[in-house]
Amino acid sequence: MTTNDSSMANGILYGVSVGPGDPELITLKGLRSLQQAPVVAFPRGIQDKPGIAQQIIAPWLRSDQQQLPLDFPYVQDIEVLTKAWQLAAKQVWEYLQKGQDVAFACEGDISFYSTFTYLAQTLQQMYPAAVINYVPGVCSPMAAASALGLPLTVRQERLVVLPAIYNVNELESILDWAEVVVLMKVSSVYEQVWQVLQRKSLLQHSWIVERATLPNMVIYKDLSDRPHLQLPYFSLLVVQVSRQ
Ligand SMILES: C[S@@+](CC[C@H](N)C(=O)[O-])C[C@H]1O[C@@H](n2cnc3c(N)ncnc32)[C@H](O)[C@@H]1O
Repeated sequence: MTTNDSSMANGILYGVSVGPGDPELITLKGLRSLQQAPVVAFPRGIQDKPGIAQQIIAPWLRSDQQQLPLDFPYVQDIEVLTKAWQLAAKQVWEYLQKGQDVAFACEGDISFYSTFTYLAQTLQQMYPAAVINYVPGVCSPMAAASALGLPLTVRQERLVVLPAIYNVNELESILDWAEVVVLMKVSSVYEQVWQVLQRKSLLQHSWIVERATLPNMVIYKDLSDRPHLQLPYFSLLVVQVSRQ
């Protein structure tokens, strides 16, 4: 590396995947990146409660590390979101330009439906000199499969992951050709999903994992008698379409 690289003076933003809940599911590289940074950022929790990433990393932080909660509102309005990403990028850059590394803790994996993506893209656009390192980790479908004691996929099975379901007709058509389906963010549409699974005779081949790997994890195997469930946001549903 050359010594006249202007980015050398700046700190580095580390996007650290901290895993799905159990603090021990962070990787060694993730832990090292987290602990070497003087500043640790994470999405601010709601209603003054610590957010999930903040809870996961709590056992690993030192008292001399500065904690930087960043606001990422739970809205769809792109203007509101863009302003929040720009503000977060500005806050992070203030440390980076002083030569301080910032570790951003991301629940699950950093590249899998993660808020970090928007922060990283915005930071790079606003401050092209910013250097970003990505540390991969354990994402929730993998954690859920282990919690269920099932292989997520075997042989040549086709796996489909749906980030959210805005249209249940789409799910119907995917169930016609996919062999394993993972539904993220299922909590708000569970009752409609249940109806689809019933029509397709797949309720006995469906599992829900709430808060995978956390002490209050809940698993539902066979959804036949469960048309109405109040699921937390951190829930996902696995359907094994082909292993009937
Ligand atoms: C914005 S996505 C974040 C995904 C995360 N980056 C990952 O790697 O799994 C949030 C959704 O992921 C799923 N999820 C994340 N962590 C989970 C966990 N510990 N247990 C069950 N579902 C989880 C839920 O479906 C939740 O609505």
